[in-house]
Amino acid sequence: MLLVKLGGSVLTEKARLRTPRRAAIRRLAAELASVRQPLVIVHGAGSYGHILASRHRLKDGGSTSAKRAAAARVQADVRELDRLVVDALNRAGFAAVPIAPSVVLTLDDGGVSTMDLTPFLEFSSLGFTPVTFGDVVRDLRRGFSVCSGDLLMLELARAFRPDRAVFAADVDGLFTADPKRRPKADLLETVSPNDLAKIEFSSPRRTDVTGSIEGKVRRMFEIAEHVDACMIVNGNVKNRVRDALRGKRVVGTRIVRGP
Ligand code: IPE
Repeated sequence: MLLVKLGGSVLTEKARLRTPRRAAIRRLAAELASVRQPLVIVHGAGSYGHILASRHRLKDGGSTSAKRAAAARVQADVRELDRLVVDALNRAGFAAVPIAPSVVLTLDDGGVSTMDLTPFLEFSSLGFTPVTFGDVVRDLRRGFSVCSGDLLMLELARAFRPDRAVFAADVDGLFTADPKRRPKADLLETVSPNDLAKIEFSSPRRTDVTGSIEGKVRRMFEIAEHVDACMIVNGNVKNRVRDALRGKRVVGTRIVRGP
């Protein structure tokens, strides 16, 4: 089994509310179909999630009716993006089934408290392709909070122990500094926990509610414990996600677990 996360910055225009990148969604669906192996697919929320989640501080939860309304709006929005992704996957030949984290998962102060993996396991064993996504979910401490696609990748990696976990980003991989701010930053071919000191992490964009790059990298080290290979590749480059899933050597960053 292979696990893939399609980043929200590849699937959407991240700065323009609820704006899909339809051509990228279509192309990636076709690439995933051409891998011809059982997949579990996770996707991010991009501008269907981060903008309103940040504006209304949904990560912190809350119990006012304004907060609840905003949480419900974002839940509806991420489902709308998921619908576009699932439709594209089905047109590309998958039997894709959406599994919403708001139904199957509960957080406790931002960490996973419980997750019902049964729908993932059973749909997979029936030949369906489970598709899940960053979402607003219940949180025991906060009322509700935001669950990122990366957190879902970790839970699914733990449960399925896939051969490979591939993250499709809008850059070639992990660099010594943010390549969008420092064009001279070097791409790192492999990164282990010992390399963290080499990386200059800049503060996350204000609207990125699911946190810093450093936090994401630390989560990937955890994922690497459960998979044979964990990679970040550029989802905007044609066939890179496909080739990475097939186990070919591609431009990207391989995340290796600690000693
Ligand atoms: C974000 O999920 C979920 C919400 C904001 C509701 P991700 O953190 O996985 O999304 P991307 O990939 O960064 O867009």
